[in-house]
Amino acid sequence: MAGRLAGKVAIISGGATGMGGASSRLFAAEGAKVAIIDRNRAAAEETAAAIRAAGGIAEVFEADVSDEAQVNAAVKAAEEALGPITVLFNHAGTIVIKPFLETTVAEWDWLHAVNVRSMFLMTRAVLPGMIAAGGGSIVCTSSISAVAATPMEVLYDTTKGAVHMFARAIAVEFRDRNIRCNAVCPGFIRTPHGLREVAELTAHGVDVSDAAIAAQQGRIGEPEDVARAALYLASDDSQFVNGVHLFVDNGFTAI
Ligand SMILES: NC(=O)c1ccc[n+]([C@@H]2O[C@H](COP(=O)([O-])OP(=O)(O)OC[C@H]3O[C@@H](n4cnc5c(N)ncnc54)[C@H](O)[C@@H]3O)[C@@H](O)[C@H]2O)c1
Repeated sequence: MAGRLAGKVAIISGGATGMGGASSRLFAAEGAKVAIIDRNRAAAEETAAAIRAAGGIAEVFEADVSDEAQVNAAVKAAEEALGPITVLFNHAGTIVIKPFLETTVAEWDWLHAVNVRSMFLMTRAVLPGMIAAGGGSIVCTSSISAVAATPMEVLYDTTKGAVHMFARAIAVEFRDRNIRCNAVCPGFIRTPHGLREVAELTAHGVDVSDAAIAAQQGRIGEPEDVARAALYLASDDSQFVNGVHLFVDNGFTAI
């Protein structure tokens, strides 16, 4: 299939729904063979079916991205099914919203495992094959929350700060092997994650009304807004772009 990702094999973690789902569909439409690695098999299968119905190629590999054995098995299965991985979109992640002083050690450890350890595990599993294939592009989902804090989100903001630096550090260490690694940093986006975040922040008295979001970023973002930015970073269009934080927030962090 022709397109900006023609000839690429892309793993998208969290590629079942939301921005990950939009990216799975867009990357496939742009010619990539897509491996969706997600813990939500039903939603992932639905996305893969839509891709196939549109003429694209997609396979589903169920895994919890915070689990070493599951990640290694899913990446190996994806390589066997689709070939050497040349694009990795580390997108899976989640959020804990509560007052800091009510936060438990178990919640801290769990969120860091899902949001940060997952990037380490996925990237470590994919890199040897990507290097052997001659190089590739890694995109990590960070957030405006890496640089702009929100009350009730100390755990989440901290994980995204780590993701911000993870992307840079990988970029610097693997540049000489033709690997690029960049972060995409969404503002508030209309996904299951984003809508839950807005509802829970509102319940805690944080103003994330439509008017507040409009004042900060014009409107709520759509999953496709972020998928298009991830596509740019994944594709050869960004071949000299490495170690950057691409904010997709309509100016939220520019003020
Ligand atoms: N929506 C927003 O406003 C927003 C803003 C900035 C960053 N983000 C980031 O986007 C990601 C959330 O994605 P989304 O907003 O597209 O919402 P989403 O909830 O629709 O997508 C998350 C996907 O990740 C998968 N997932 C979650 N935990 C997993 C795990 N442990 N193992 C495997 N798969 C797992 C889910 O099944 C789902 O398919 C997170 O990394 C989040 O930090 C979201």
